[in-house]
Amino acid sequence: MNKLINWVDERLPIVDAWNKHVGKYYAPKNFNMWYFFGSLAMLVLVNQLVTGIWLTMSYNPSAEGAFASVEYIMRDVEWGWLLRYLHSTGASAFFVVVYLHMFRGLMYGSYQKPRELIWIFGMLIYLVLMAEAFMGYLLPWGQMSYWGAQVIVNLFGAIPVIGEDLSLWIRGDYLISGITLNRFFALHVVALPIVLLGLVVLHILALHEVGSNNPDGIDIKKNKDENGIPKDGIPFHPYYTVHDLLGVAVFFFIFFIVVFYFPEMGGLFLEKPNFEPANSLKTPAHIAPVWYFTPFYAMLRAVTVDLFGLDAKFWGVVVMGAAIAILFVLPWLDKSPVRSIRYKGWMSKLALAIFVVSFIVLGYLGIVPATEGRTVVAQILTVLYFLYFILMPFYTRMEKTKPVPERVTG
Ligand code: HEM
Repeated sequence: MNKLINWVDERLPIVDAWNKHVGKYYAPKNFNMWYFFGSLAMLVLVNQLVTGIWLTMSYNPSAEGAFASVEYIMRDVEWGWLLRYLHSTGASAFFVVVYLHMFRGLMYGSYQKPRELIWIFGMLIYLVLMAEAFMGYLLPWGQMSYWGAQVIVNLFGAIPVIGEDLSLWIRGDYLISGITLNRFFALHVVALPIVLLGLVVLHILALHEVGSNNPDGIDIKKNKDENGIPKDGIPFHPYYTVHDLLGVAVFFFIFFIVVFYFPEMGGLFLEKPNFEPANSLKTPAHIAPVWYFTPFYAMLRAVTVDLFGLDAKFWGVVVMGAAIAILFVLPWLDKSPVRSIRYKGWMSKLALAIFVVSFIVLGYLGIVPATEGRTVVAQILTVLYFLYFILMPFYTRMEKTKPVPERVTG
């Protein structure tokens, strides 16, 4: 075995790579449960790739055959129902895990210098993940697949001058059709997964270049022993490989309860109208995207005024785009001298709490039909969402922070 490793190692530095990224990657010893979600995101990614490959073996990417092929997978393909539920539940699990992973970043200031690139790659991953989920949702060719795609692609039509041509170009047709289904299939199963994998590699490389942050937000590289090893660091393997297994066990426990007992999650993970085949002549009474898009959908609907000769729909798209774009510049909005929420002042804590509540309630409002009252609430919450970012340079400068200890506190 050793001989074989040596033989390969002389030609490809696998031992070096293992040591750099696993065996001798020193991670802070005070990781808590919020640090499970990066490895869990990788686990869900693998689940999506593997189940996706097997689903593709029996799926038919055509307007005539798609819906029936999904039913065929559910009823006739051996273990097909399990493959499909693993994939559909995996899509929602991906967003649950990624949202918690991002929240950890917000809490501990993991986006701050020198980790800006890790955050930017993370945001690109998030964008691609949204595109991946959106295109995957068209594939079962149910009523919600069809009308959801119709609504979202039509949004591009709101852009002045080029809008109509752009949505035509995306659809490849005057309405969502088999042509759209074909291209979404190609992007969903080949193009975007490749991009996603590449971005995850860059995300990890950027992380390992500067080292992991931790719940105290302390730079462990400042305190090294005589061998140059951070005093508060422990090797990723075996300590965190084993530690992460606990996260995997808890995750699987919850994930499989959903897969086996609540795969539709009351219409949240698999929407009810999607059990009817797509029909371009019959619009569902209430069109709503899947839960992970609904905070942004609520912002889109919250914009109701026409301005500067452009209609509300256009401004809704602008607000929705800005809500995501502003996350990219977060590393430059936070002017705090400390990283972790543990040592920030009350203003940062309150701002983060308001931001999280706004995001969750917007998510709820995006699921239910809009009423006048709900629209007003969505408008207020949209403003609060943006204020978290816009006011950040001010409250992070103004507030009194707590002293950060020299060494991690555990
Ligand atoms: C497919 C999706 C993703 C995967 C597989 C992934 C993977 C990972 C892994 C394995 C880590 C190290 C372990 C950990 O700190 O939890 C990490 C760290 C990090 N990720 Fe992600 N990530 C993903 C998406 C994102 C997104 C969407 C963001 C934010 C926009 C993000 C921001 C970060 C940050 C800031 C860190 C450093 C955290 C720290 O050191 O405190 N990641 N990621």
